[in-house]
Amino acid sequence: MTAVTVLVGSVYGGALQTARELSKQFRAQGHCIRVVEEPELEDLTANRDPVLICTSTTGQGEVPPGLLPLYLGLRDQMPMQEGRPFGIIVLGDSSYGDTYCGAGDLMEEALLEVAAVKVGETLRIDALEVTEPETVAILWFEAWLHQLP
Ligand SMILES: Cc1cc2nc3c(=O)[nH]c(=O)nc-3n(C[C@H](O)[C@H](O)[C@H](O)COP(=O)(O)O)c2cc1C
Repeated sequence: MTAVTVLVGSVYGGALQTARELSKQFRAQGHCIRVVEEPELEDLTANRDPVLICTSTTGQGEVPPGLLPLYLGLRDQMPMQEGRPFGIIVLGDSSYGDTYCGAGDLMEEALLEVAAVKVGETLRIDALEVTEPETVAILWFEAWLHQLP
């Protein structure tokens, strides 16, 4: 049994639906998956569980408004998270070109700056190609769980 905190950023509900489906699936297998919508910094710092960021990208490669308090809190307060494992699922749309999945890169940068440790490759889900992000995410998460220290 693994405990994972999933911190969600979603504008139109795709990333949230993905996080919810994923948690449903893995809770049924006995894992403890805590999904937090519109997370604050305290939702990250409250424990030392592995963290999964599940976010979409908005604006021009930006973090959704609901994830901004966490992102800005990380940037401004720099609460050190040495060795804290994290992974990233980011939804985007490759037609946005250079800003494709930019929110995932921003979150990764912010977490690396507080010494958290990235586990696995970022899962980038392209809205142009994938109609059911949760299906891809569930497969990725299974492998991610196995890579956790
Ligand atoms: C106003 C707007 C801006 C967007 N900007 C970007 C962007 O800069 N880069 C990107 O990869 N995707 C961008 N997207 C695409 C979304 O990230 C993508 O559609 C995603 O699946 C939405 O997930 P959500 O339902 O959780 O918000 C944008 C979408 C909208 C509507």
